[in-house]
Amino acid sequence: MKHLDVAAIKDGSVIDHIDSKSTLKVADLLHIQNEEQVVLVGINLTSKFLKKKGIIKIEGKIIDQKEANKIALIAPNATVNIIKDYEVVKKFNTVIPEIIDGIVKCFNPNCVSNHNNIKTKQHVVNKNPIRLQCHYCERIMGAKDIVLI
Ligand code: CTP
Ligand code: ZN
Repeated sequence: MKHLDVAAIKDGSVIDHIDSKSTLKVADLLHIQNEEQVVLVGINLTSKFLKKKGIIKIEGKIIDQKEANKIALIAPNATVNIIKDYEVVKKFNTVIPEIIDGIVKCFNPNCVSNHNNIKTKQHVVNKNPIRLQCHYCERIMGAKDIVLI
């Protein structure tokens, strides 16, 4: 059996090929602090494709395509593996969604979504580099402006 930098899990999800610097941001997005079972996080691991990668393994959680697509906002190269009884039973890529709902804060302090109890909403106007346009105030945000709610 090949050596793993981060131990194998039995049942759950592995988010792999995260751009190393974004690993903790992805962990935050997935609310790993609320998990009850084992969570393993690796940063600056060697990778074939990226110079360095991050990985997050969550025992007992099955990530679906919708949740994976939120990850793509922060880590567009990330892949998701679903593990059952130590085997990879499903593998899929994350895809940047067209509309972002209630995940990203609008960076315009005067935006109505920062003052009233309105759920944030942005349209993805460009995927690479990422550009989000606020549905309410129409301001455009880039990768560096993305702050999660
Ligand atoms: N993995 C795990 N626990 C298991 C099985 C797999 O944590 N029981 C992890 C592996 O460490 C790897 C990911 O799930 O990070 C995907 O596993 P696999 O498809 O076997 O690895 P690779 O072929 O290297 O995947 P890829 O081609 O997507 O890089
Ligand atoms: Zn706004």
